[in-house]
Amino acid sequence: MKVAPSILSADFSKLGDDLVDIVSNGADYIHIDMMDGNYVPNLSFGPMVMKSIRHLTDKTFDCHLMIEEPERYIKLVAESGADIISVHVEATKHIHRVIQQIKQTGTKAGVVINPGTPVEVIEAVLADVDLVLVMTVNPGFGGQTFIPSSLNKIKQLKALREENNYNYEIEVDGGINEDTSKKCLEAGADVLVAGSYIFSHNNRKEAIDSLRN
Ligand code: DX5
Ligand code: ZN
Repeated sequence: MKVAPSILSADFSKLGDDLVDIVSNGADYIHIDMMDGNYVPNLSFGPMVMKSIRHLTDKTFDCHLMIEEPERYIKLVAESGADIISVHVEATKHIHRVIQQIKQTGTKAGVVINPGTPVEVIEAVLADVDLVLVMTVNPGFGGQTFIPSSLNKIKQLKALREENNYNYEIEVDGGINEDTSKKCLEAGADVLVAGSYIFSHNNRKEAIDSLRN
């Protein structure tokens, strides 16, 4: 399994230092949350900020777009250093087209579902994606409480992958801590995103390691 610290919870006044710190403490992916203030009721940062820290590590930049009509920004995000670009199925009218658009940039493609969205909605694109991100909170903010009904979706995605020989990783995002990480791993998650849990911990290595067990 992999741990993907979300830099949404980093100290932006020293973002580069925080990035180097989580890399040296065992991060597998770097989770990068871009919010547009429209699709979600919050603004974070955009591709320019990601580009400015790209030279600090060669770890996978796992870019989560919480943007309405993400098709408008795929090229820019890819050129700014993303390795994986994930888009919400709820944020576009043409999820299949956006996934192809992401792949054409040479970037891996992910699809995201909110807590209120069933797995069935993305079944038709599961063969095309490298990652499925199951939101375990409603997107927009760090530090929220894990929504347990997401666990069934993880199991469902794992079963579908086995039945159909699909290749995606199953990632969970929101409210991940020492306890909820166990439940997600048991259900079949491959990648755990964690923001506030890791960044609020005095010992980040200990925090990242605790998610692995
Ligand atoms: C929420 C973001 C998450 C966020 C998770 O919309 O997608 O990646 O950083 O934060 P925690 O781990 O604090 O719930
Ligand atoms: Zn995220």
